[in-house]
Amino acid sequence: MNSTNLNDITITYSDEGIGLPVIFLHAFPLNQTMWDDQSSELKKHCRVVTLDLRGFGQSSAPPGPYSMDQMAADVRGLMSVLDIEKAVLVGLSMGGYIALAFYRNYPEAVRALVLADTRASADTHEARLRRLKSADKAETVGSRAIADDMVPMLVGRTTLESRASIVERVRSMIEANSPQGIAGAQRAMAVRRDSTYILAGVDFPVLIMVGSEDTLTPIVEAESLRNGIAGARLCLVEDAGHLSNIERPEEFNRILTEFIKPMS
Ligand code: MLT
Repeated sequence: MNSTNLNDITITYSDEGIGLPVIFLHAFPLNQTMWDDQSSELKKHCRVVTLDLRGFGQSSAPPGPYSMDQMAADVRGLMSVLDIEKAVLVGLSMGGYIALAFYRNYPEAVRALVLADTRASADTHEARLRRLKSADKAETVGSRAIADDMVPMLVGRTTLESRASIVERVRSMIEANSPQGIAGAQRAMAVRRDSTYILAGVDFPVLIMVGSEDTLTPIVEAESLRNGIAGARLCLVEDAGHLSNIERPEEFNRILTEFIKPMS
């Protein structure tokens, strides 16, 4: 793991392989190791960059408020440090919100997008209130309480019933994060902008993926992304929930490699 100082914080990242740059943006409230199975496969064909977003993993967790735009600016800053002009961005859930904010702010730096288990719309009023409550809970009760609440929603039914080591891995990632980072990102997602209106301007390849058992960003969200982006391809990851890349790594990698390889 490497680290660099940018935008007044320390960002921890990994940069492996050579060729087409592919940057992976992790979900909430996890860290870059959620991409380990993708990184080990994709680095055979391209340059793979993963990072702990502000508030998570080994990166700084400064006091909030954070914003999706700020997190996208951190990604842009890391690209400058690594001398990367244009990259394929792979974002899952919150990572997808950040990838869309990145595209809004730095369209010239996007080669292609992979949007997994995510949505373009902003939160509803009710969802925003739930998030703000959860941010308060992180700060008052701690990260373990957030893991208790979220693990059963993050993974799908099949994983809950039959993949105990994956459930444990997800729980450990959440518990290792600081309450301040979790609260900062929750509040940032609560005020994120609607990205639906920018979809029509996309003029590069887009792959949309979704776990067949995802209840947080269900298939209907993936279909609405696909309908909004001309030429976008939608692939279902069977027997996986919201964390489709962790729950079915081989299937996720197969679909991702098929999309990325012709560009590399
Ligand atoms: C995530 O997996 O990043 C979160 O579920 C996103 C969200 O809470 O909207």
